Amino acid sequence: MNDQDLIDAALAARTNAYCTYSNYRVGSALLDERGKLFVGCNVENAAYPEGTCAEAGAIAAMVADGGKTIRTIVVAGGHDDIEDCTPCGGCRQKINEFAMPETRVVLLRPGGHTRSFSIDELLPRSFHL
Ligand code: THU
Repeated sequence: MNDQDLIDAALAARTNAYCTYSNYRVGSALLDERGKLFVGCNVENAAYPEGTCAEAGAIAAMVADGGKTIRTIVVAGGHDDIEDCTPCGGCRQKINEFAMPETRVVLLRPGGHTRSFSIDELLPRSFHL
């Protein structure tokens, strides 16, 4: 399973995004410490705050299946075509919960390019209990 497999899975999940209010379609795919793949898409709601992000869906699926740690997570979002979509603040915190220092957050960019970050770059000095 390489980055391209994860990108393909994120893009496939993105086609199922329920984004009737924002028309902003996001897909996410992650690989856990066991090498298992999980995907998510954003699921909006008429009660706006009840909507959930793509990353949250993928993380919830991993946790429900017994996964403990994110090795790599891909995020792909945009209105129609792929735009520069970085994880929202809440999703950075959610990723952080299941990240290790080597965890890579891979963002799909226009033109099929990617950019990879550590969670510490995206959420420096994060909260830990
Ligand atoms: N969204 C995500 O799914 N992930 C992010 O990290 C950024 C935002 C979704 C939430 C909402 O459904 C839409 O994108 C517009 O904010």
